[in-house]
Amino acid sequence: MAEAIEAPYSGLSSQRNHLYATSSVVVPNAVVATNDSSIVSKRSVEKFYVSDRADHLLRHFVPKFQRRSPLINRGYWLRMELVKQTVEEFLSSNTDVPKHLINLGCGFDPLPFHYLRRYPGIDFIDVDYPQSIRRKAEIIRNTPELNELLVDPSYSPDSDAVIISSANYTAVGIDLSDLRKFDGILQARCQANDELLFISEVAITYMPVEDADSLIKWAAQFPGAKFALIEQILPAGEKHPFAKTMLSHFRKIKSALQNIGKYPSLTAQVQRFDAYGWSSVVACDFYGAWCNMISSEQKSFVESIEPFDEWEDFVSFGQHYFFLYASSRMPDAKQMSLFTREWTCGSRVTTEDIAKPDLKNLQSSRISTLTAGLEYRKHWQPGFDRRKLGAAAKLCDGVAIYYGGMDAKARSAVTYIFDEAKMKVSRVDTSPQPAPRVCHTLTKVGSRKVLLVGGRGNPKSALADCWLFDGVVWTRVQDLPNGRYRHSATHIFIESEDCVLVFGGRGNGNEVYDTWVLWSESNGWSEVKSVGRSPISRFSASLSWFPSMAAGVLTGGFSREGHIISDVLLVSLNGPGSIKQQRWRPPPGFGSNLLGRAGAQLHPIGDTEALLLGGVLGSHCLPADFPGNVLHLNISNQEIEPLCTILSGKEQDMWPVLMGCDCVWLNNRLHILGGGITAFSMGSFWNLCTGILEIDQLRPAEIISRRIKPQLASSENISLPDVYSAIGTPKPSLVERYILAQNTTEIQSAIRRRVPLLFDNLSFGECTKVWSPEYLKAAFGESREVWYTMHIPRIHIM
Ligand SMILES: C[S@@+](CC[C@H](N)C(=O)[O-])C[C@H]1O[C@@H](n2cnc3c(N)ncnc32)[C@H](O)[C@@H]1O
Repeated sequence: MAEAIEAPYSGLSSQRNHLYATSSVVVPNAVVATNDSSIVSKRSVEKFYVSDRADHLLRHFVPKFQRRSPLINRGYWLRMELVKQTVEEFLSSNTDVPKHLINLGCGFDPLPFHYLRRYPGIDFIDVDYPQSIRRKAEIIRNTPELNELLVDPSYSPDSDAVIISSANYTAVGIDLSDLRKFDGILQARCQANDELLFISEVAITYMPVEDADSLIKWAAQFPGAKFALIEQILPAGEKHPFAKTMLSHFRKIKSALQNIGKYPSLTAQVQRFDAYGWSSVVACDFYGAWCNMISSEQKSFVESIEPFDEWEDFVSFGQHYFFLYASSRMPDAKQMSLFTREWTCGSRVTTEDIAKPDLKNLQSSRISTLTAGLEYRKHWQPGFDRRKLGAAAKLCDGVAIYYGGMDAKARSAVTYIFDEAKMKVSRVDTSPQPAPRVCHTLTKVGSRKVLLVGGRGNPKSALADCWLFDGVVWTRVQDLPNGRYRHSATHIFIESEDCVLVFGGRGNGNEVYDTWVLWSESNGWSEVKSVGRSPISRFSASLSWFPSMAAGVLTGGFSREGHIISDVLLVSLNGPGSIKQQRWRPPPGFGSNLLGRAGAQLHPIGDTEALLLGGVLGSHCLPADFPGNVLHLNISNQEIEPLCTILSGKEQDMWPVLMGCDCVWLNNRLHILGGGITAFSMGSFWNLCTGILEIDQLRPAEIISRRIKPQLASSENISLPDVYSAIGTPKPSLVERYILAQNTTEIQSAIRRRVPLLFDNLSFGECTKVWSPEYLKAAFGESREVWYTMHIPRIHIM
């Protein structure tokens, strides 16, 4: 390189054997072995999702094919697609400057071999530990299809660095912590203004954090460098069930994620790159990438390959992985498009966002005024634990039914009865009974009956059969017009007859419905027409009816493409056979930003109030104890309030996952049954005990406000600014105006409530006349910004 790169830092660990030093659970061979499983997953994607067999290069590296689950295939497809988009934009950008593509911790990924022929002038460099690169070099050498793509290759398996050297491809076997060596190799190949794209696809997170930081800082010194980073984050802290499962998996395989503790969030990662010299940085979580960087055509293609219905798991995975793109100089076209494109779901953070003031201080002003205790009970009934995607409903006073769902192995056809007084779950054996299923609904009809609607076997078999349970036996009733699962259902009275109103859901052939159907015992199923525009077709939405208001609420759900919808619709019957809906526009603010969720439970808790609980949020992954996982909705005045939940009992670390569960409201308590998620390829989390969690009656927060604080402190390792930036910064609200001395009682009340006030007609002296924009410019200078923050608890001015 013509221009010398600043010598690597004194902290370089080339002399230090870090391999066992940083963590007892990091073993280099185990880190190298992480490639073995990722390459098998990538091969599974290649085989099913890559139509041109000429592009099937991974088959040379994976002699024993293993088909991965649809969830893993989709996650890896997305990861590979993000790398592909980045590489292809870099390679095809129109410049005369030499380009180098450097894959850090490349493992066996044959990425360069897809492009060697198409982009003859590019310098491709693969880097990994020597033992990994030696094995890779051997495969390349013995595979004519790969070897012939190299220009004058020379193989040096005994070299301590460059193991394959050719005019267009270099394979370097070094420890990436040895920056001095790596710097020497790159200096020999690059000129000062060359363009370099560094990629680290789930690789440098296994390095000691100070070494990974040094690498990032060193790479920023190339004036034409870009960095694409894919790895894991902890958007909701390490107590989140997905995070817990993921961290424990990596510890178990002795390759702990070493960087995630210091950089647990998108904000922390963007700040990291910013601090280490990258001039523009943008990062988004994988769920955001799916919704915003993958075209509709690509989504339809992915959907067409294999049946898939692990949506909550996919969103949770997407919220725990991120894509970051940084430029050492000005933002390039890719960055500009990531910065400026309208962003629907998922989180995105840019260098501009981290320059905003720290919103952490706003936390206290935004917490709920309502609090509920959550009690977690263990080990109810052998066989009832580890169960998700079943359905529950109240049968009669103090008694509920739970039917179906799945455990770790199979879908279930077992009926359980929950008796609240005895706090006991018992199995009921009935014959006949519905076939095993998941994603169905149970709705109470009449004094002691429950209607089961639809559901599915595998995602290709949407079920149309419906059954009535009377507490003792199941009786098959009229079939749905079409099979549906992940639909929403609610009880409704029409002309004094018990009916069940159903909206949306998925059918066979990737169908997603936007239709309403109504069931009554006497008439069976009939279609209910929408007056005006139907709600957007969706599945896993929440629906509840409020008889005293003669109206229902439909909210959230997944769109056909898997985007989480955030509308709230107030629906009412418009004469027999038709329904009209009206968009509810909750006032902007914290609560309404937490509305967009799928797979959530909406439960009336009074004539006009409801709780919206759990599910996956489109905006962010919330920590279990964060106010807002449960929302309190007041339907009559259209208000939304996040609810603080406080885990009572000893199991302070055992927050349940509020996904795949169902709830019943019995005696002023919400009982949560079942629930669990699959944490991608890293294991499953169940609401062990699948006992019952109960939310007590709502209590005003003041009574227990002191107990709220420690709960919030426990999630300090998640970045609240991250949460706020994803769910929307605080919206301005109208400040009350007062004329001094006329409203003393109201002023006292405002002081007690700690809200800001505006006083009209007060004299501020000369400043109101003298401080013109011209005066201020002259006094402070044109570019000076002044921030004023008042450090009075619960009042913040920005
Ligand atoms: C999970 S694999 C990912 C491989 C590849 N990037 C992919 O996505 O298929 C992680 C890779 O990073 C490599 N790696 C981790 N730390 C490294 C280090 N300090 N030096 C060189 N390679 C490293 C491992 O050897 C392994 O091949």
